[in-house]
Amino acid sequence: MKPIVAGVAGTVLLVGTIFVATIISDKITVDSIVEENDTTVQAQLPTTAAAQSVVYAPPSIDEVPEGPMKEAILNGYELVNNTHVAADEYVGNQLSCTSCHAGAGYDEQASSLVGVMANYPQYIGRSGGVVTIEERINGCMVRSMNGKKFEMNSDELEAMVAYFAYISEGIPIGAKREWAGTSDMKNVPIPNVDNGEELYGQSCIACHAADGSGTGANTGPALWGDNSFNDGAGMARMSKMAGYIQNNMPVGAAGTLTDQEAADLAAFILSQDRPEWPNHDKDWPKGGKPNDIMSKEKREQVKNGTIDWEKVLSTN
Ligand code: HEC
Ligand code: HEC
Repeated sequence: MKPIVAGVAGTVLLVGTIFVATIISDKITVDSIVEENDTTVQAQLPTTAAAQSVVYAPPSIDEVPEGPMKEAILNGYELVNNTHVAADEYVGNQLSCTSCHAGAGYDEQASSLVGVMANYPQYIGRSGGVVTIEERINGCMVRSMNGKKFEMNSDELEAMVAYFAYISEGIPIGAKREWAGTSDMKNVPIPNVDNGEELYGQSCIACHAADGSGTGANTGPALWGDNSFNDGAGMARMSKMAGYIQNNMPVGAAGTLTDQEAADLAAFILSQDRPEWPNHDKDWPKGGKPNDIMSKEKREQVKNGTIDWEKVLSTN
């Protein structure tokens, strides 16, 4: 009997080994493709084919199950939706996370955060290393919110992570979220700032005010000036701002602006004054820094007419 058992076990082992080896070689292929395209940009956890097809079906915030996690989840929702009030000692402007991640991240179009837990940790070129979800939240705190980082074991950060885990229910680790990262315009047309100013006057001031200071974090957030994001934020890049506008603005008529109009608007908005990010020189430490970051230097160039838009837009 013994040799037969060993034989069967051996066959199972062998078949198993071949199977695992196939999976591993598949993964290696997928990984190297990701790396070729994205070495200095972003690389998510490697996925298998099975993990790729996921549907957008987050659980409702009105149906958080009773239990010891409920308070943290609801607190996290409040912190994301009403950030400059709920975490005012950390936030340096008048925005909430909802100002960009509409509906506290529930909105499928506007930089959705549904399922976000499935894609962290993640390699991010801007940081030059692997970034956890906590660090990613703090990244938006110091740039988009022009504020301070939460301490790693703070109630606020724990609550936000609990909330993001809640709206990531059912999304497997490494899944490709088709609804995420959609607000990125690939080939931004050369913009016309004067036309952007005119369009802004026609379609945006009702909610964002003529001077860009906004009408409220969740009704029309500040687009420039002291109460807006700083120029180290993702939104301070032409590709992200133009893509966001084209996908989402004006609220109620999203998708009606052409790429050209969205680029004109982005260029007008990003040539206005805003808080400065002090650590531009530390970003993208391993290279690959994009040219479309509208820093103070580029804002000056727009004002004195020396900006080279072809160069600014060449890396996107
Ligand atoms: C001024 C706009 C803005 C604000 C305000 C903002 N973010 Fe973001 N956030 C972005 C952009 C742009 C990205 C990058 C998305 C992309 O590249 O598609 C991003 C990305 C993220 C990501 C990673 C998403 C992913 O799919 O990998 C997380 C998590 C996040 N933000 C959390 C927050 C939190 C929490 C707050 C509030 C404390 C916040 N953000 C405020 C603009 C903003
Ligand atoms: C009816 C009101 C309304 C109009 C009109 C409108 N917005 Fe918005 N905008 C919002 C709201 C509300 C948000 C917050 C996110 C959300 O809820 O979609 C927002 C967010 C934004 C953001 C991201 C947040 C930030 O601080 O950068 C940008 C950029 C933006 N709008 C640009 C525009 C532009 C450009 C126009 C004109 C084409 C425009 N909006 C017209 C209401 C409006």
